[in-house]
Amino acid sequence: MATLEPARKQFTPAMGYNFLTGLYDFTVRLTMPENRIRQRLVAELNPQHQEAVLEFGFGTGQNLIRIHHYNAPTKLRGLDIDPKVKVLAEKKLAKLGIAVPLDLYDGGTFPYPDNSFDKVVSSLVFHQLSKEGKFAALQEIQRVLKPGGRLVIGDWGQPSSRAMRMAFYTVQLLDGFNTTTDNVKGLIPVYMEMQGFKNVQEPDYIDTWLGTYAYYTAVCQKASLMRK
Ligand SMILES: C[S@@+](CC[C@H](N)C(=O)[O-])C[C@H]1O[C@@H](n2cnc3c(N)ncnc32)[C@H](O)[C@@H]1O
Repeated sequence: MATLEPARKQFTPAMGYNFLTGLYDFTVRLTMPENRIRQRLVAELNPQHQEAVLEFGFGTGQNLIRIHHYNAPTKLRGLDIDPKVKVLAEKKLAKLGIAVPLDLYDGGTFPYPDNSFDKVVSSLVFHQLSKEGKFAALQEIQRVLKPGGRLVIGDWGQPSSRAMRMAFYTVQLLDGFNTTTDNVKGLIPVYMEMQGFKNVQEPDYIDTWLGTYAYYTAVCQKASLMRK
């Protein structure tokens, strides 16, 4: 008997189209200072021994590998919506002998109890989510983070110049204008604050051939604690 898969919400694949997913790593290497961008992300995350860390939207596993190399005892986990990237990431991690549990979900509730993680990191995912999707993801991240936990987001931000604005049209043509316009307007940190995150900051940004990649950090504050 065939097993019925749970209905998955619609999502944008890593490169905008499903048939391009296999080219993701090559394209990132070609169009971005990948090492610099990912190293800066991991440095901002600064994973410690025995901390529980979740990558939301792990893609082909490039950040998970770097986080593991930065601090191997960190208790890492990955969550994504796309079964295709899970296969790619699993193969890559297995080849390197890195054991990280990778989870798939349907785009709704994260498959973890409240207060599961010390830190959540996410790179290049929020520009693929609708406005409602961005808020829903922030809400789930807040739920699974421990009080005082840290969120680090790296994603397309407000272009640093006219040239960066022009460059970003390439991403918008692939991923769509609907999900990416809020990024261009610099609304990701605004949404983080609206969702209740505290101490929201933009510590850095890096210009790439495709646009300005910005870093956003915040601390998780739980509504129940805020009322006390
Ligand atoms: C552009 S890739 C980024 C991958 C990786 N984080 C990186 O830095 O290279 C975007 C990833 O977000 C995932 N994604 C898209 N919508 C998602 C959702 N609603 N929930 C979780 N992951 C999602 C895609 O499957 C893809 O793996």
